[in-house]
Amino acid sequence: MRLVHVSDLHFGAVSPLLPEALKSAILAAKPEVLVVSGDLTQRGRASEFQEARSFLDSIPLPQLVVPGNHDVPRWWLLWERFRRPWSHYRKFIQTDLEPVWTSPDLFIVGANSARVAGWHPDWSRGKLTRHQMDRLVRLGTQAEADALRVLVVHHPPAAPPQGIKRHLIGRQREFSESVNRAGVDLVLAGHFHISYAQTLPLTGGESSRNCVLSAVSTATSHRLKGEPNGFHVIEGDSHGIVILPWIWNGAEYLPGKPWRFQCEPGKRDWREVSA
Ligand SMILES: [Fe+2]
Ligand SMILES: [Fe+2]
Repeated sequence: MRLVHVSDLHFGAVSPLLPEALKSAILAAKPEVLVVSGDLTQRGRASEFQEARSFLDSIPLPQLVVPGNHDVPRWWLLWERFRRPWSHYRKFIQTDLEPVWTSPDLFIVGANSARVAGWHPDWSRGKLTRHQMDRLVRLGTQAEADALRVLVVHHPPAAPPQGIKRHLIGRQREFSESVNRAGVDLVLAGHFHISYAQTLPLTGGESSRNCVLSAVSTATSHRLKGEPNGFHVIEGDSHGIVILPWIWNGAEYLPGKPWRFQCEPGKRDWREVSA
């Protein structure tokens, strides 16, 4: 299988050259599915969603999209934010905030980790509810045994090696247990605008194991966090995954150094291997 993973497009705050260059790079990769892990817009405005819709429509591939924390009305539009937080997203992107995409060798579950508000001043934080985690476990049991099981969320469950000053996805212990029990092989995320891939220790459930976490930089936005724009091309199956980062050098996307992961067939306990 081959998929392309992009995130944090942030229409409303894009670099002018990047959407077209990204589209060409995605099509050149010939993936079976395009995954978009949230923050399609900068301020959740209708005009930004329209731009995002046009961009997605220009890419003739199956697509799995989940929302991010920027895809709700901003906090100063409090009435809109609380009454109809997903109206623009549902109108322009899709009605289903948590889509599922399957093929004979791939099982992808989307989960919406963006929250309308929280008991803290930082409403950009994300988490899944107990109900969402139960759904993930239930769906995991329906996947084909040999299919690579992928979870797509906006907020990452672990920090990159260089660390971050922002929050990871909330309810870490419950999240870890749910991902473990669902048999997830690979978690895809964005949000930090940093590209990294690593094993993710999973506890809870019947036994501990590692899955793989892959997070991408912003594909098209000028809101960089110390890293260039980029996206990932991911190839593999249920016992081997290669994650190839593509990095924008100011004129074109070029391939970086890939991360490689393996596991014993049927074990779903992943480890990183050198090239
Ligand atoms: Fe973002
Ligand atoms: Fe975000």
